[in-house]
Amino acid sequence: MSLLPLYEYPDPILRQKAEPVTKFDDDLRTFLSDMLETMYADHGAGLAAPQVGVSKRMIVIDAEQEEDENGNHQKGNPMALVNPQIVYKSEETIFFCEGCLSLPNQRADVERHQRIKVRYQDKNGVEHEIEAEDYLAVVLQHEIDHLDGILYIDHLSRLKRNMLLKKLEKARAEK
Ligand code: NI
Repeated sequence: MSLLPLYEYPDPILRQKAEPVTKFDDDLRTFLSDMLETMYADHGAGLAAPQVGVSKRMIVIDAEQEEDENGNHQKGNPMALVNPQIVYKSEETIFFCEGCLSLPNQRADVERHQRIKVRYQDKNGVEHEIEAEDYLAVVLQHEIDHLDGILYIDHLSRLKRNMLLKKLEKARAEK
């Protein structure tokens, strides 16, 4: 297993529409394990393949992980979803304060569908469907957006987005 490099805003790979995965082999399974390892190491609730430089439709999430006393993230319910597709969205929405490993140390309230249904393939190519609500639904929508080149800041007003990007620039300059 190895840690993968993180691609940050404004890297153009984050704006590409990712390609479907067609080959389910050992390389794919190793890559998905590496994505999970990278997500935990960087304290993310989810990670999409374009964020580690691979423009393919794959995401990993763990909406149930816990932080131990040293600030390390412990596995809760790791999931790898290949070619995920949202097949149902509730009309009800919720606001949740989101962050993204590609926009480090920034957060903002984003409106999302409160309940969704997602069809996906697992690491062996077997098809599944998952129903999600609240936090899990938020994480899934955020990560699936990445596969279409969409970042959570795109859901903000222009004013809020510009403020956040200015803060990101400032934080980077101070590093
Ligand atoms: Ni993200």
